[in-house]
Formats: sequence, structure tokens, C-alpha cells
Amino acid sequence: MSASDSIEFLLDGKLQQVRFNGQSAFKPSTSVLNYLRSLDNHKGVKEGCAEGDCGACTIVVASPGADGRLVYEALDSCLVFLPMIHGKQLITVENLSQKENGQKILHPVQQTMVTQNGSQCGYCTPGFVMSMFALYKNHHNPSTEVVLDALTGNLCRCTGYNPIVKATKQACCKEGKDHFSPLEQQVYENLKSIIDKNQDIELEGGNQQYFLPASLESALQLRKKHPDVLLVCGATDAALRQTKKMEHLPLIIDLSRILEIQKFEETENAFVFGAGMNLERMKQLTQNKLDALHDMLVVFGSLQIRNMATIGGNIGSASPIGDTLPLLFAYGAFIELASEAGGRRTMAIEDFITGYRKTALKPDELIVSVTIPKPSSDIIIKSYKVSRRIDLDISTVSAAFALKLTQNNVVENIVLAYGGMAAQTQRARSAESFLHGRLWNLENIQQAMGMVEKEFTPISDARADAESRKIAASNLLLKFYHQTLES
Ligand SMILES: Cc1cc2nc3c(=O)[nH]c(=O)nc-3n(C[C@H](O)[C@H](O)[C@H](O)COP(=O)(O)OP(=O)(O)OC[C@H]3O[C@@H](n4cnc5c(N)ncnc54)[C@H](O)[C@@H]3O)c2cc1C
Ligand code: FES
Ligand code: FES
Repeated sequence: MSASDSIEFLLDGKLQQVRFNGQSAFKPSTSVLNYLRSLDNHKGVKEGCAEGDCGACTIVVASPGADGRLVYEALDSCLVFLPMIHGKQLITVENLSQKENGQKILHPVQQTMVTQNGSQCGYCTPGFVMSMFALYKNHHNPSTEVVLDALTGNLCRCTGYNPIVKATKQACCKEGKDHFSPLEQQVYENLKSIIDKNQDIELEGGNQQYFLPASLESALQLRKKHPDVLLVCGATDAALRQTKKMEHLPLIIDLSRILEIQKFEETENAFVFGAGMNLERMKQLTQNKLDALHDMLVVFGSLQIRNMATIGGNIGSASPIGDTLPLLFAYGAFIELASEAGGRRTMAIEDFITGYRKTALKPDELIVSVTIPKPSSDIIIKSYKVSRRIDLDISTVSAAFALKLTQNNVVENIVLAYGGMAAQTQRARSAESFLHGRLWNLENIQQAMGMVEKEFTPISDARADAESRKIAASNLLLKFYHQTLES
């Protein structure tokens, strides 16, 4: 089958086809934000930060879910490359109100923003309203916790959040019923017919080649042909090279369409997460199964970011402050890699991360999945994130610890994995060796804390100086100790 040179999606109730060629106004990695801003009737979406922090660019994307219904997700359009909405319905603030007998009827989420005085400016409000709309479609009478989570990715400098939270609660009580509801089945089928073509997409324009393979097989073939390509899946890491560093990205393989790497499987001994699974789904799947990982995902970015960011991207970018990595060390996770020539191989996550943003990935390989062995009930695993604010912030120091004690309170096994303390995620090996075989008591913990401080030479940066990082890291061990006494 030959590859297509265009993408298709729904906007304003119509099928839109964007073809990329010499004449196109867009290069393939144009952000959805810039695409919308180029249209006359979609200027509500705003650019605030261009890095996923402010939410002024929030859009909602609907895609066909496995249960035959549409899934509505709020995304930061500044970080979404246009091809990523292939086969989806793009919804902006302009689509929320409707006309009836010449009268403009506001959507319930817009109406309650008016009645609760939730808006003072046109800059942040469209983004808030879109986050509220996604929540409206997904939740009936959400709790305050759920409302706050849905709004974490939107910043307002003036109104204050209380009226917006009240407006959201007041609106979300109609089981998602609105003027979109009667059309949802039709939209679902239209989107399925685009997706079911199952065609690889190869786009070229603006001195850029952009591949959007439909299957893992096609992706591996492309990867072999283009070893120097930039891989993206959620693009929350990679897109910043374009939006903030103003880099030209000549060659991209986008893995976001490959369903084979988005699967979840629970076996007798392990949980297997597809590398292309987004972190919001992973957050939901880990609840009551892998509590420490779930707790970390609750404070990972914002809902908009988690709807895009993938576990494969967090591992593949190998950032020293990648929040899932200390946990994957503590759980003893391993990853599966695939290449066209070599088939599949597995590797412990600890061996995969080799340096500052460096991994053992071969030039023709992709990460396919991550397997987390089910921890036995006598192992205590906890995670910690120290950051300047709780929500939507990058870790200053992060940690994940796993502990197994004998019946006599002696340490049988311990993993102390840290982020933000070295050029890569790293275990405090000397403290681990010291504690191994010793009594789990305050005296030994205090000695181990001194070792943690000596073990690392962290950097000083805008988030914290090196000394504060050392103190935070050793105090996290103390906190863990006290928490183990409670459990
Ligand atoms: C506003 C904001 C908040 C953030 N908050 C956090 C946070 O709280 N904690 C945190 O840890 N990170 C955070 N991040 C960073 C980022 O969201 C995460 O690292 C995320 O998991 C990256 O996933 P992605 O799919 O978006 O990666 P992408 O940008 O798509 O990919 C990043 C890199 O990973 C590699 N890669 C991706 N998929 C594969 C694959 N299948 N096989 C091989 N290589 C692959 C490629 O080298 C690629 O270039 C934040 C980012 C933003 C913009
Ligand atoms: S412009 Fe700020 S999140 Fe996109
Ligand atoms: S009302 Fe727009 S920044 Fe607060």
C-alpha cells in the first residue's frame, strides 16, 4: 500500500484534509496552535508560554475509544504537531456555543463562567473553558480533587481560582449532555473510517520529512532506514526543541498512532505497559496496583501534559529528573526493545539508562513496552517528589525506595533510587550496602543518611543549590524510615 501525503481530521463538523507539499503554508511539525491561529475563525486559542505550562492554548481532541464511545482529552496545542490529530475531532472554544433562532446559546461551561464571574480576560479564559469542557464530557458531579486536577494545567493571574472552580462544579452535572451528544455516534464512525484506512503517512514540506506510521512494523522499517531520526510519541519533550530552542527538525518519526505499543497487560507476575501509553492512562491503571507509581503520576505535569506524554518518552528521554525512572529502578522494571533486524530483546531499566540523556537504545531500535514485576506484599515501595510547587513542576529531587525486611527487622533488600542528584537517575549504592544485613533502626538510618549526602555531587541551579539537594535527599530517607514504621 502506498503512503498518504495528507492528514485528515474533523473541525467545525467538516472533514479537513491538510496536504503537505511545496505549496503548503505549513511544514508538518507546525503546532496545532499555529495552525488554528492561521484560520480566521479560531483565534480563541492563545499562546502564553509555548511550553505546556500556562494552558492558554488548551484544545480538546475527541477520538474513538475502545468501548464504542468518543474519548475527550484536553491537550496543550502548542506542543501538538499537526499530524498528531490525524483521525481525530479537533474542538476549540469557538465550537462550544451554538446558534438557536439567531440567538447565541453558551455551552454550560461558558454559562457558569459568566454567572460565577470566573473570567476577567480573554487570554486565559478560552483555555480554562476547554479544560472545563473536557471534564464536563468525562465526569458527572466531579469531586473537588478531580476538578482541581482538571484545572492544574491552566494559569490565571487575576480572577483567582475559586470562581473558576465553582463554575466548573456547577456546570458538570449533566452527564456530559450537550449539543455535541446527538452527533457523537456519527463523529465516531467518521473518525473510524479515517483510522481504518490504516495507511502509513509520509509528509514533506518546509525542508522537513515527517513519518506517521500506522504499525510497529512500518515504524521499525523507517527506523532502520533513518537511524538519525528524531523519534516522538507524545512530543512533550521533543516539541520544546521547536517551540523554545527554535530548532529546525528535519526528520521525524511520530509513533503516536501505533496501537500495538499502547496496550496494557496484567500477567500472573507482572504488569506490562506499552511504551506509547500516555501517562494519564497509566495513572488510572496503576491505581490500587502500583501505589507508589500512581502517587508520582498524580503530580506529574498537568492533565493536558499527561494526556500526551508517554511512558516510553519518559524513559527514552533519560532525563536526570524524569519522574518515573527512580520508580522503575525501585520496582526492578525492564523494558522490551524491538528492531527490524534483531527482533526483540529485554533489558533491565538500570542498564538502559547510561548517562545524561543517554540510553542503550541502538540506532535501529524502538522501546516497545515496560514490564513491572508485581511486588510481593512484604516489600514496601514509596516515591517522593521535591519541587517548588506541588503541581505542574519539575522535580528538584525525586526518590523511590524499595525495602524488604526479615522477620527480625533486618534489611534483606533495599533500593534507594534518586532523580536530580546526578547526571542520570542513580542509586545510593554505598548507603544500600551499608544498610543491607543491618537492623532497620534510626541509628543505622542516620549513618546511611550521611552516606547519601557523600555519595552524590549534584549541581546548583535555579531550582536549588547542591547543598539543599543533598539535605533533601538524605531527609527523604529519614521520611521513608518513619513511614515504614507506620505501615
Ligand atoms: C509542562 C511540562 C511538564 C512536565 N512535567 C514533567 C514531570 O512532572 N515529570 C517528568 O518526568 N517529566 C515532565 N515533563 C517532561 C515530559 O513530559 C516527559 O518526559 C514525558 O514523559 C515525555 O514523553 P513524550 O511521549 O511526550 O516524549 P517525546 O517528546 O515524544 O519523546 C522524547 C524522546 O524519548 C524518546 N522516545 C520516545 N518514545 C520512544 C520509543 N517508543 N522508543 C524509543 N525512544 C522513544 C525519543 O528519543 C524522543 O525524542 C514535562 C514536560 C512539560 C512540557
Ligand atoms: S501556550 Fe502555554 S501551555 Fe501552550
Ligand atoms: S482572567 Fe485571564 S489571566 Fe486571569
